[in-house]
Order: sequence, then structure tokens, then C-alpha cells
Amino acid sequence: MAKDWTPSSWRSKPVLQVPDYPDPAALAETEERLASFPPLVFAGEARKLKKSLAEVAEGEAFLLQGGDCAESFAEHGADNIRDFFRAFLQMAIVLTFAGSQPVVKVGRIAGQFAKPRSSDNETKDGKTLPSYRGDIINGIEFTEGARIPNPERQIEAYRQSAATLNLLRAFAQGGYANLDNVHQWMLGFVAGSPEAERYSALADRISETMAFMRAIGIDAENHPSLRETDFFTSHEALLLGYEQALTRVDSTSGDWYATSGHMIWIGDRTRQLDHAHIEFCRGIQNPLGLKCGPSSEPDDLLRLIDRLNPDNKAGRLTLITRFGHERVEECLPKLIRAVEREGRKVVWSCDPMHGNTITLNRYKTRPFERILAEVQAFFDVHRAEGTHPGGIHIEMTGKDVTECTGGARPILAEDLSDRYHTHCDPRLNANQALELAFLVAELLKKDHVATALRQATAVNG
Ligand code: PEP
Ligand code: CO
Repeated sequence: MAKDWTPSSWRSKPVLQVPDYPDPAALAETEERLASFPPLVFAGEARKLKKSLAEVAEGEAFLLQGGDCAESFAEHGADNIRDFFRAFLQMAIVLTFAGSQPVVKVGRIAGQFAKPRSSDNETKDGKTLPSYRGDIINGIEFTEGARIPNPERQIEAYRQSAATLNLLRAFAQGGYANLDNVHQWMLGFVAGSPEAERYSALADRISETMAFMRAIGIDAENHPSLRETDFFTSHEALLLGYEQALTRVDSTSGDWYATSGHMIWIGDRTRQLDHAHIEFCRGIQNPLGLKCGPSSEPDDLLRLIDRLNPDNKAGRLTLITRFGHERVEECLPKLIRAVEREGRKVVWSCDPMHGNTITLNRYKTRPFERILAEVQAFFDVHRAEGTHPGGIHIEMTGKDVTECTGGARPILAEDLSDRYHTHCDPRLNANQALELAFLVAELLKKDHVATALRQATAVNG
């Protein structure tokens, strides 16, 4: 148990990015109600994810983490969840099959509602209002009323998370993820694209393999791993009152767990060592993510690692680096060297989204080629340092949106206005997500060949 920690000890620390609720009594009443609600996830599931992430830390698996930048109340529906899950499964299968590594699947979903903002206010046509902070806090409409933080939204976010999770569990365990369905995961609008052809070819090979295995007596009936998958949820633990209300003692281990999602992470703007977000996260036993941006310095990072993972357990901490495609070589090696020098066990994951945002035609967007360039640089640096490029962390949707430019079926600057639906940052659409998966699979394959060659050389002296 963390020393001098309670689920509310963060309240005595400085805290950034907190909404200004006009009615503290109503907020306290909401938090009390939430504290009486059932947990969304179970400690045993969070432990299972931690074990899988330990394999990633050891270089034996790959982490795929992705989903919306911000979930919204308006887009809550079965089709959205299903299409996201399909696109995600396609990526995962490409990485598993072409990359020959087990893939740990973690959605930014079922709780990803609260957003840190670079400015407290937003000005439009001469009018200034408080910034939108995510549907769990206030409304996106540019009106005074919508922008007032409303605690009731936390109840709605909890309910939406529960319903989303319910469907995801059904998809993951109820037969939808059966490898016999690998062709059916193709989304209609993806058909005909270059990625669709590559995906179909890969799906054909998987089907052939399945037929062969069936012939020798191994099928989805008698091997659950062929018909089910483990799918975990994650979100940024930004709104600490909500997180505290859902923090519970696990009866099996006696430890505290956040039950709002399996994994939670600390954002790049709220990772100050003595501040509230680090204080809250250090005491819960879930796997944690920590975003590392260009301002992350090796010494600060080591202190954060000590605070968040004092026992140096593999799987506890994932460092999610997000520097921007041109800054990876400048920022990443010094962090890797410090972590390696001190023997700290971490998962290294690449967020190629948040350092590559630009404005085009008044739309926030991300050029796909810069996203690819950051992933490529991440792999190059890890290869040079001899460390495992453990995963990617992306913002994506299963819908055919036009939010990031580029890709094999390119979205142009003038297309952005067509289907720009995100409530916060621009996401990869399903085509772009699949294209990225193929690129990463190739990089992983190269890594395998390099490792195998190194091992063979070592054996042969
Ligand atoms: C995010 O992941 O949506 C986000 C805000 O990231 P970061 O904290 O890295 O800026
Ligand atoms: Co974002």
C-alpha cells in the first residue's frame, strides 16, 4: 500500500485543469452518488492487463491503444461502438499476423470524456466563453449555459461508460471476435481501397490457416482463444473527483483500484511531481500511462517513475511519448538512456498524434505522413538504443471521417469540412488506421529479423 495515501489525499495538492463548478454542494452530492454505484471494471481484470503489459515491457508483445480523443454523448450508439471495435480488431489482427507478436488491446473508450485544454477560454466572433472540457464536464455548444460545468454530466458519463463496456464485453467474448469472422470485420467504405486489398489478402491467409487447424482438430469450439479476445478500456484520469468516487478496495488483495477503466493515464499537462494527478495515481494499483512530451527531462522522468512505480514492477507503467515527428531524435534517446541506466522497467509506447497537430482552413488537423514519420522515428530510435518499441497510442474512429489529411486514399485540406465530427482532436479514419497498422507490422517484422539475427550471431559466436 502506498505510504500516506488515501483516495482523497490528492485534494491537498496543487491541481491543474480543474473545472470551476458553480455549485460545490451539488458536485459533492454527485460524487457521493457515484461512490455508491457499482464498479465499471474489476481489479482482477486490471491485474490481467498489467500482466499482459509486463510481457510488452519484456519485449514479447505489442500494445495497441486507441480510440476517440473525446467520447461524446451525441455519438453514443451501437453502430459507432461496433465500427470502432471492427476497425480496432482489423488493426490488431494485422499487427498480430504480419508482425508475429501477441497484441495487447486497449481502447480509449468507455470513460474517455474529460479533456485538458491549453486555454481556459475560447473566443469566437468577439465573444469569450469558458473552454469546452469534455462532455463529462460541460457542453460543446458555444453558449454561456452549455459551458457552465454541470456535475450531472458525470452521472451520464458513468452510464454511457457502463453501456459501452457492456457492448464491448459482448463483442470481445460473445463470438464477434471469432477469427472465422476475419473477412466480415471489413467496413463497407473501406472496400476498394489499397488497404482493403492488403487486408483481404491477409484475411485469406488467416482463413486458410484456420481451415488447416480445423482439419487437425483445433477449432474455435474447443479453443476459446480463437473465438474470444481480451479487450481493455482506458482513459485520461483528469477529473479526479470522478476517479476518486469510483476508487474501491479490491476484496481479494486489499489494494485500491480505480474502477472507472482498466488502465488510466496522466496527461502531458498534469504530470507535475507534487501535484494532485500524480498523487492520486500513485496509490491505485491499475496499470498507468504517463504522457511524455518535449518538456520531459530525464531527471524529472526518473523521479516520476520512482513515485508511480517504486517497486519497479514491469507492466505497471507505460511511457507514452509524443514529441512531434521532427523532435523524436532530439527528445527520445535521452529518456531511454536514463531509464535503461537506472534499470527501470517500462513499456515504451508512441503517441504520434498529439505532437503533430496543425491548423488548415481553420480546422485542427494532422497530416498522416507526419504521424507515420513519428512512428518510424520512434522505431528507429528504439532500434538504435536496443530497446523495445512496445506500442502505439492513437486517436481513431471506425467512421469514414475527414479529420486527418493524407493517406493512401488521400484526404485533402479542402475535404476536411466534409465529415469533420470530432469533439476535440482530429482522429484517423478506418482507412488511415489500417494503413498505419500495416506500416507498424512491417516495422515489427524487421525488428524480429534483426533480433533473430543478433541471437543467431550470439549463439554462433
Ligand atoms: C490526449 O491524449 O487526448 C491528450 C490530451 O494528450 P496529451 O496529454 O499528450 O496532450
Ligand atoms: Co487528443
